[in-house]
Order: sequence, then structure tokens, then C-alpha cells
Amino acid sequence: MINFKELIAKEISKNVDLDEKNIMEFIEIPPSKEMGDYAFPCFKLAKTLRKSPAQIAKELGEKVKFENNEISDIKVEGGYLNFFVNRELLTKEVLTDFNNSNELYGSESKKDKTILVEYSSPNIAKNFHIGHLRTTIIGAALYNIYKFLGYNAIGINHLGDYGTQFGKLIEGYKRWGREYNVEENPIPELTKIYVRISDLCKEDEEVLEACRENFKKLEEGDEYCVKLWTWFRDVSLKEFQKIYDLLGVKFDSIKGESFYSDKMDEIENILDKSGVLTDSQGARVVNLEDKGLGVCIIRKSDGSTIYATRDLAAIKYRADTYNFDKCLYVVAYEQSLHFKQIFEVAKYLGIPEKCVKGLKHVQYGMTRLPSGKMSTRNGTVIEVKDLLHEAITRIEKIIDEKNPDMKDKKENAKKIGIGAVIFNNLCNTLIKDQIFDWDTVLSFQGETGPYIQYVYVRCKSVLNKFEKIPQFSDIDFNCLMDDSSQKVISNLYNFNSVLNNVIEKNETSYLTHYLIELGQNYTEFYNNNKVLVDDENLKNSRGYLSYAVQTVIKIGAKLLGIDMPTEM
Ligand code: ARG
Repeated sequence: MINFKELIAKEISKNVDLDEKNIMEFIEIPPSKEMGDYAFPCFKLAKTLRKSPAQIAKELGEKVKFENNEISDIKVEGGYLNFFVNRELLTKEVLTDFNNSNELYGSESKKDKTILVEYSSPNIAKNFHIGHLRTTIIGAALYNIYKFLGYNAIGINHLGDYGTQFGKLIEGYKRWGREYNVEENPIPELTKIYVRISDLCKEDEEVLEACRENFKKLEEGDEYCVKLWTWFRDVSLKEFQKIYDLLGVKFDSIKGESFYSDKMDEIENILDKSGVLTDSQGARVVNLEDKGLGVCIIRKSDGSTIYATRDLAAIKYRADTYNFDKCLYVVAYEQSLHFKQIFEVAKYLGIPEKCVKGLKHVQYGMTRLPSGKMSTRNGTVIEVKDLLHEAITRIEKIIDEKNPDMKDKKENAKKIGIGAVIFNNLCNTLIKDQIFDWDTVLSFQGETGPYIQYVYVRCKSVLNKFEKIPQFSDIDFNCLMDDSSQKVISNLYNFNSVLNNVIEKNETSYLTHYLIELGQNYTEFYNNNKVLVDDENLKNSRGYLSYAVQTVIKIGAKLLGIDMPTEM
């Protein structure tokens, strides 16, 4: 498709002393269509040209020319130069492209770039908490979008399945395993055992010693310890899988921290050879004080490695295996220091420079309840599986009231309920903490998942009234020249660039906002323009536009992980 913004930037650059790239950054989208499609703020030039922005706009407006009439009008408005895209050309471009690509509209061809996206990464034998839900949803969305844009994306689940706590859990299970119903209810029961043994360790040094011994044995491959640990891992994964199935989330690689246990010596050796390892009270550390990052422990004084060591081993392994261009860690902002440290130390691992540069912590904020922070003690922790099921049951209730005769009620309630939770996790600037409030999340109005689905279903019901879905060959571009049709068409035009914004900033809210805007503009279009009119040309053209909107909503939502219901 024609890149109108680039075209404008190119033309302006011929007439002013600024390069195209800078101009691209300055060009804005005016707040309303009446003002134009693109605006160049001339006060950016006022200082160098020593003229008033209005004067610059006036002069520049007379100079810029678009040979093929891509821009139909240019207006000076205060210090701004406003450009109006040729509507016919835009409409033709967008709908031709849509006709050619359909469900792949907005996608890009294969690129020779590998992007690793690490998300979810819960800890086995522990609760999958609401923070894990958030990384799972964000990571899966980013993964889908990278793929759609042609990148070789690899989804990785870096399971927390290693550490001295497993020595404790083994000891606890050895002592009291039969008292607990781990088989039936693995995670809560294992948690109870863990709490009990930890308490005992605090009182009894000998028990603690036994736990350490267990972990050592586990590392050395002792049959009994490995068997128990494998079982803890299996039952936990099975539990997590239930959540992944509900969300429709997949991974290309599930590798736990344990996978790196035999790769730590190598990391220590490399860092030692690089000369960055120092001894500190018996521990081996990389001192990052001069960068304000404290020290990064590589090996503790008792000889064990830590979370950071395993992360460094994972970086090396991933660089060797994938030679990645980017490796994104979708992890809560609380771990920000940890990632700053390991990314700094990664410079000494001898991996390609591009891999070091490609390491990126994609941070997200906390989820709170309207009543405050969640806490185990107050019983205000929400079980993720329960939360997802509750979303579905709540939607079922709403459907029973609104549309009791709905077909596929169960399937649709699942798509709406889960979709609502997913959308809610993606629609605010990720770094911000968010409040989880059922009424907002499940509302059919406002910036919500159900709203998007509602617009989709409306498009669908319009199209159901056609004998057959209107074809590209049936449309007349002239029927779509009014403001409200054009707003929808410029939304469609922007779809690909919005997706690119998402991956540039690793910020999913660009896409959620986009879908809301598309939904609102389609609603306005629908209210202003009757679709099912007698005039065949008009009817087919508006019908085709509805079909394009329906498809783009479906594509965009699917990228976020949200499926469309058949009815609402
Ligand atoms: N398992 C960790 C947790 O639940 C998150 C792991 C994040 N990923 C990483 N490579 N450190 O807190």
C-alpha cells in the first residue's frame, strides 16, 4: 500500500532543511478528520528559519507538490500544515489489499530475524498467581504479533523448577506425604507440606541439613529424589496446562531452570576468564557497583548457584541455539534489578553482540483488587483457574438474562469471559498497576473485550442479511466517500502500522486502543449509513466495508488471544 506519511515526509524534506526521518517523527494525526489526515507542525522549523510557524506553513504549503494526486488538499491551519489524503485512492488501496490478503490482512512476509519471547514461567509446586496470568497473556500476544509480522518467533516457558526449596519439599514429602492428598489437589497440598517443613527447619538445624542433603542428592541424580521431583514437576505442569488450555496459550519450548543445572560451571569459567569474577565473603560475584547495580552473585559461599546464574546459562544457551535478534522477558517490574544485572553480566559471556543488545525486559505492573493488594493471609489471593471459570459463569448469567435462547451458549460464554479477562490484561499501559474489577472487565460497553466482540457480532448480523457476502468486484468506491466511511477506512489502513508500533514498544495497548477505535468508528458508520438499502451499489459497498471491519476485528483480537463468539 502507499505509505502516505512517508510520501508527505519525502516531499517536505525536499523543501526544508530536515531529513525525512525527523519529519516522519514530527508528523501528527490531527484530532479530527475534518482537520486533515496528517499534520506537520511548522513550529519545529521556526527557530532555524527565524519565521513564525504560520508563515512557514503558508510558504511550505505552496511549495509541496504531489505528482500523482495522492494528497488531494493541503490547508494551513495556524502553525500546522494539514494534508488531506485522496479518499478515492486510499479506499482503493485499502480494499484492494484487503481483497488480496483477507485473513492475512496486515501481516508481513517472512523475515530473517529470530525473536524469543519468554512468558508465563511459573514455579512448580507453587500457586500460579495473577502475575503469572498477566505475563502469560502479554507474552502470548506479543508472540502472536511478531509471528504475524513475519518474524521467526519462539515462545519459551522458563519454568521455575529448581532451587534448594526442592530439597525441603522432598524432605517434607518423605515425612508426611501420606497425610496429604497431593494426587488430587497437587499445588495446594504441596504448598502445605512446604510451609510445614520450612517451619520445622527454622527450629531444627538437623532437618535443615537433611533438606540440603536432599537437594545435593537431587543434583547428583539420586533415584528417589529425582523421582519425587519429576513427579512434583509433572503434576504441576498438568495443573498449569489447564490454565493454558483455557487461555489457548502455547509454547514452542518449555525448559525449566533445572535444564541449566549442568551448564553453570561453564558460565562460572567464562566469567572467571573474562576477569570479572571476584570473591566476596566466600561467594563468587560480579561487582556492578560502578553501574549502580550492586553485585550479581554467581556462586554462593555454600557452593550453590542461584536464579541469576541459571538465567545467565539460559542466555548463553539461547544465543548458541537460536542466535536470536531479540530475547524478550515478560516479567513483572519487581524483577527489574535482576534483569539489569544479568543483562550487564551477559556482556562477558562471549556471545554475539547482537544477542546482548537484543535482551529486553518487558515489564508489567501489578494487579490489585478494588479492596487493595492481594494477600494470602487475608484470603484475598485469587486462584487463576477459579478466576477464569468465574468469568465464564458470570457471562453465562448475563447471557441467560439477555439472550436466553442463544445457540452455543457454553462455547460463547467461554469466548466472552476469557476474552474479557485477556483484553483487560492488555488494554492499559503495561507498566501501570491495574485494578481488577469484575463490572469493568465484563462490561459490554467501554474499552472491553466484550465490546469488541459485540461490534464483530453486529457486523456479522448485517452480513447475514445479505444473500451472499458482497464481493470486491461488486463495490463502487464512490459510495464510501463520506466522513464516517472514511474514518473506518483510515482505521483499516493503519492496522499494519499499529501492529508495528506494538512490537516497537512492546506495548499491547496500541492494539487494544486501535480495536476500540475501529469499533467506535464502525458504530458511527453504521448509525449514519444504513447498510441494507435498495441501491445495490451502495448496499454492496457498505456491506463489503462491514465485512472488512469484521475480518480485521477478528484478526486483531485473535492476535491478542481473543476468539469471537457467534452471537451475543
Ligand atoms: N519463575 C519466576 C517467577 O515466578 C519468573 C521467571 C522469569 N524469567 C526469568 N528468565 N528469570 O517469579
